[in-house]
Amino acid sequence: IQPLTFLGLESSCDDTAAAVVRRLPDGRGEILSSVVAGQAALHAAYGGVVPEIAARAHAEKLDVCVDEALSEAGFALADLDGIAVTAGPGLIGGVLSGVMCAKGLAAGAGLPLVGVNHLAGHALTPRLTDGVAFPYLMLLVSGGHCQFLIASGPETYTRLGGTIDDAPGEAFDKVARLLGLPQPGGPEVERDAQSGNIRAFSLPRPLLDRPGCDMSFSGLKTAVLRARDGIVAEKGGLTRQDRADLCASFQAAVCDVLAEKSRRALEQYLESAPETPVFAVAGGVSANRAIRSGLENLCRGMGVRFLAPPLTLCTDNAAMIAWAGLERFVGGASDGMDLAARPRWPL
Ligand code: KG4
Ligand code: ZN
Repeated sequence: IQPLTFLGLESSCDDTAAAVVRRLPDGRGEILSSVVAGQAALHAAYGGVVPEIAARAHAEKLDVCVDEALSEAGFALADLDGIAVTAGPGLIGGVLSGVMCAKGLAAGAGLPLVGVNHLAGHALTPRLTDGVAFPYLMLLVSGGHCQFLIASGPETYTRLGGTIDDAPGEAFDKVARLLGLPQPGGPEVERDAQSGNIRAFSLPRPLLDRPGCDMSFSGLKTAVLRARDGIVAEKGGLTRQDRADLCASFQAAVCDVLAEKSRRALEQYLESAPETPVFAVAGGVSANRAIRSGLENLCRGMGVRFLAPPLTLCTDNAAMIAWAGLERFVGGASDGMDLAARPRWPL
């Protein structure tokens, strides 16, 4: 068997990305290039991602990113073995831009086309970075997603639970907005939390009293809003320290919920007696150091290997899409020109 090399495209949210990834005959992955053009500056003035602006920017940037990814990898289109593209879930204008671009490239170069579920991209990242064997437990935590999955094959996932309302990243972003911090809010809240007191405000730990792995984060954000309004009513405004304390208390609540629900998900996963148990995280929120170390401690206590991919591969990127495409392709799958862009697509 020869190594296989795929170009991957990602455009489902606010990052335009292209990457060239190789799968070696022994199953190991190698990232030859990974280009990410973020759109944060375009959306900054609106306090969130504007779908129409995102779609236009993807359409304008995708070909530039592809060129850059190919030349960085030292590959010509004709030397590739296939094109993988995020076909959903996500903002439909962006997903369509990517799918159309991929179809054009695949048709023009006569290459196989493989549509990839964005969530599968995140979920398969531990195999790209560390060659982890199935089955492993995965926590996907981003701005749009929050769920526990047991991955037992490139296309086989068991969902153990997830958020019933906001995703944690969304909650971080909303809390940042409440406190006048810029977007994306996660890194800002984390930075402020460092100088805050986690016990300054007593915030709820939603759904911990209920069995199972489902989570809820929207009440937590509302509790931060009330606490903020309480301080403003009392003192007329927030001091730097108040803000840091709110950030720290909020982050601690998210950590507690994620750690306890992860413990329950791990218990379920361990019932299947995996040979070398692995718990991996992915998604933008797994960049948070407090959350990472909470989960790391939990795993140490339960005798499970904890895996957090490098930050550049935790947030949206096209290397994970190229890799997920390779895994599908090796399993015998590919798509035709009728590949559809899907705004919703549960794993
Ligand atoms: O995976 P991602 O890049 O995009 C998707 O949502 O699919 O995740 C972005 C989310 C944003 O909500 C951002 O605020 C959050 O991840 N995030 C963080 C941190 N870095 C990024 N949340 C908490 N702490 C962080 N350090
Ligand atoms: Zn993502």
